[in-house]
Amino acid sequence: MNSSIDDPINGTQAFKASMRAQWDTAAPGWNAHTTDIRAWLHKPTDAMCRMAGVRAGLRVLDVAAGSGDQTLAVAQAVGAQGYVLATDLSPAIAALARDNAIRAGFANVETRVADGEDLGVPEASFDAAVCRLGLMFFPDPLRGLREMHRALRPGGGVCTMVFSRPEKNPCLTILMSTALKHAGLPARDPFLAGGLLSLGQPGRIDALFRSAGFHDVATTALDAPFCLPSVDHYLAFVRSSASPILQILRQLDAASAEAAWSEMRDRLVAFGTQDGWEGPNELLLTAGRRPEEAT
Ligand SMILES: C[S@@+](CC[C@H](N)C(=O)[O-])C[C@H]1O[C@@H](n2cnc3c(N)ncnc32)[C@H](O)[C@@H]1O
Repeated sequence: MNSSIDDPINGTQAFKASMRAQWDTAAPGWNAHTTDIRAWLHKPTDAMCRMAGVRAGLRVLDVAAGSGDQTLAVAQAVGAQGYVLATDLSPAIAALARDNAIRAGFANVETRVADGEDLGVPEASFDAAVCRLGLMFFPDPLRGLREMHRALRPGGGVCTMVFSRPEKNPCLTILMSTALKHAGLPARDPFLAGGLLSLGQPGRIDALFRSAGFHDVATTALDAPFCLPSVDHYLAFVRSSASPILQILRQLDAASAEAAWSEMRDRLVAFGTQDGWEGPNELLLTAGRRPEEAT
């Protein structure tokens, strides 16, 4: 994520190549933590599916699907008469989504390697679309939303899930600021395109939905604490699968990277509870609908 995205062609392509490589590397770690991720995101995922209008028999597009945890939830909801296309920029993580769908016995899931800003699916070919914790990584999220709008039939619903403001996601802020400090890099504007918190600015994502042509746009903020047995469980998750943090620390030698992890631990331990560890997170679920009449 070092690439400048100011250059509209080369910058964006380099950014996406870097993003793809990061998630190819983090794919096994993200997949290995599916149980923790599911416990963390189970309720918000159910809400996302409801808000997108996912129900039995529908064709659903899952954008930036990762290793497919929410894909399986959607596949279950649409049933054997429905269909899910899980898409992701990273071939490695998309392959895991395919394996997971097969292992779970879903014959109604297909996977495809695709940039969410250029999905290559036919116009109006889906009834609903979801995107869980992916849109904030797009250098041009408006383009991503326009693609979802184009892919939906008139009347079709979408719901995306992104992180909200930095203050509501303090662990992410701690991880990012500590990594940047140890890498000798300046603090970043958290709302810079393509970053973890880039769509958390109040009102921003609703404005993007409307610009993309969606109607009935509404955002719900949900508390989604990440509850784990200890801070070390959280760090194990971050160390194997939090690709934006890993990308920054990759530039450091082993001892310097360990110093960064150690400082992160010192700061994150403050979220310990009587029962374990609870990292606060707030998520924004934004829903919209492609209008019946073309706009
Ligand atoms: C935090 S993971 C979320 C994965 C999955 N949706 C989940 O919630 O478990 C972010 C995903 O976004 C994908 N991604 C990032 N930029 C993308 C883009 N431009 N198009 C499609 N997928 C992208 C990454 O490859 C990664 O799989």
